[in-house]
Amino acid sequence: FSLKNYNTFGIDATARFFVEVRSIEELQDILANQDYDRKIIIGGGSNMLLSDNIEALFIHVDLKGKKIVSESADSVQVKVMAGENWHDMVMWALDHNFGGLENMSLIPGNTGTAPIQNIGAYGVELKDCFVSCEAVRVADQELVTLTKEECKFGYRDSFFKNEGKDQFVITSVTFSLTKKEHKINSGYGAIEQQLEKEAISNPTIKDISNAVIAIRQSKLPDPKVLGNSGSFFKNPIVEKEIFEKFVIKNPNAPFYKVSDDYYKIPAGWLIEQCGFKGKRFGDAGVHKNQALVLVNYDTATGKDILDLAANIIDAVKTKFNIEISPEVNLIK
Ligand code: EPU
Repeated sequence: FSLKNYNTFGIDATARFFVEVRSIEELQDILANQDYDRKIIIGGGSNMLLSDNIEALFIHVDLKGKKIVSESADSVQVKVMAGENWHDMVMWALDHNFGGLENMSLIPGNTGTAPIQNIGAYGVELKDCFVSCEAVRVADQELVTLTKEECKFGYRDSFFKNEGKDQFVITSVTFSLTKKEHKINSGYGAIEQQLEKEAISNPTIKDISNAVIAIRQSKLPDPKVLGNSGSFFKNPIVEKEIFEKFVIKNPNAPFYKVSDDYYKIPAGWLIEQCGFKGKRFGDAGVHKNQALVLVNYDTATGKDILDLAANIIDAVKTKFNIEISPEVNLIK
């Protein structure tokens, strides 16, 4: 079974077995089935790199639905099923004038996979609106609820990438959104510039969303046109001591202070400095507008992308003595 249409990188990898689940019961049944040695969950396929032939059963989670579960004068809790497309869900929220998700407009993928890496963009992370999620526990197929604390969110990180890895299949996510007195997050440089360009001084949540969409469309390739998984690497967080040596040598480098002891350096900048931006090697390449994004021009294999990633990691290490690591999930 070809997975080409199930991963935004557009890698033509094959799955030995494939099944689509449309209800929680179907999901519980297939997880209980002992006939398969290895099972892999696939949602929107927007944060994975598949190697070529995978001896496993792929379970495509296609649970649909969104509903308001509680409401007060100021806020609303909405429960969104895992298979709902993330961006469509954000647009739905904005159509109802529900605030909180607008900075995360146009992020590819599905709602159910968003908590795994605590998706984030332009100053806001999923955790900022997250209340809880429901998931089927793989071991006993029980439907459980995980609170925000239990999910242990961090920068592009959560319980589901660490202790909870491969042990839960998220079936729905509940968000808390504002109905009025929305918190406008326009502090991110690129958003400020975009609003200024459009002469908007008192932005609404819809204005923020439109600004984010414009920025993303100008920098990030549309996976429908050019295969990619968004940022391929995480921005490295380095200790103060290493950072101080780094800035002396690289006074023009952008950075963000994470805490008194740690600094985050944009991997896109490091990769660009190593000369990779816009470069193409066969059908694998580095995007011309954002060096953090690797792209598949047509028929690149998982290995082609991985080889390129390894070369980039080496070059950054050699030039800056900083270790960068993939953000996407590598599936072998
Ligand atoms: N930069 C370069 N060259 C590049 C790319 C970036 O010099 O090719 C510099 C920029 O000039 C800027 C800095 O790096 O000074 C930061 O760039 P940008 O604002 O584009 O953000 P980023 O750190 O590269 C992160 C997220 C993105 C998210 C943006 C905006 C990670 C791994 N990536 O990228 O998330 O959209 O911030 O918030 O944290 C994703 O995860 O798939 C993703 C696209």
